[in-house]
Amino acid sequence: MEHNDAPAIVTAAPITQDLLWELAQPPADAARPARPWVTVAYAQTLDGRIATRGGDSRWVSCPDSLTFAHCLRATHDAVLVGIGTVLADDPRLTTRLVAGPSPTRVILDSQLRLPLDAAVLREGAARTIVVTTAAAPAERMHCLRALGARVLTAEGHPAGGVDLPDALRRLRGLGIRTLLVEGGARTITATLRAGVADRLAVCIAPKILGAGIEAVGDLGIDRLADALPLRTRRVLLVGADLLLIADIG
Ligand SMILES: NC(=O)c1ccc[n+]([C@@H]2O[C@H](COP(=O)([O-])OP(=O)(O)OC[C@H]3O[C@@H](n4cnc5c(N)ncnc54)[C@H](OP(=O)(O)O)[C@@H]3O)[C@@H](O)[C@H]2O)c1
Repeated sequence: MEHNDAPAIVTAAPITQDLLWELAQPPADAARPARPWVTVAYAQTLDGRIATRGGDSRWVSCPDSLTFAHCLRATHDAVLVGIGTVLADDPRLTTRLVAGPSPTRVILDSQLRLPLDAAVLREGAARTIVVTTAAAPAERMHCLRALGARVLTAEGHPAGGVDLPDALRRLRGLGIRTLLVEGGARTITATLRAGVADRLAVCIAPKILGAGIEAVGDLGIDRLADALPLRTRRVLLVGADLLLIADIG
């Protein structure tokens, strides 16, 4: 048999901005009375890592996938990350790669560790809501408010951090109908574990990291029969990456 060393060439229909916008839309009837519609979106390596063990995540995905991530931001009312991501990456959480509105930025931060010079406080492209608990230092709340952030006090979770369902109820009360959860790992895991995620948009980059930060941690599932069921909506190549969009449940 002839041995062929040539790399496999995979072709796909061209990814247009129009297609990325279409894929990023939440359903028209997404709004729920008690909480926002939640899309969880992240970029992982083929072996399921969203960052190296030291926290380096820039960039897991290719430029077209980053554009898609910004389309997702523009089509959701708000984007949420945990304080771990802010401390690791100091993201702006804006839509600077696409022509669309920047969403409200939401940070889960039960102790108010958010640095006062963080980009989400410095960059005025969108409002910033910091969701904390009554245990946070009052003086820190005043500082953040003085810098223009809204500080929202939610219930604490018995295991630490903010109680996510309660935080989502409060965000819905502020008029947020659609929410994009971008990470990091603890936040993605908490969202899936609390059963408040409606859709997944996972970008899978053709890279392997081995040890690193896993996208999804323990969900308390011991039997395969109890795995979260996904209804796949689209699978397509976006630049070098595979993009999977699936509804949960
Ligand atoms: N590849 C990607 O798509 C992507 C996207 C985003 C981030 N990342 C990477 O992910 C890493 C950070 O992940 P991480 O897991 O350390 O941090 P994270 O999920 O961003 O933040 C976790 C922190 O948020 C706070 N928090 C408050 N309430 C919470 C709740 N209900 N559930 C979860 N967290 C809650 C907790 O701190 P307190 O207890 O102090 O409140 C917790 O330690 C970074 O390396 C970043 O680069 C990758």
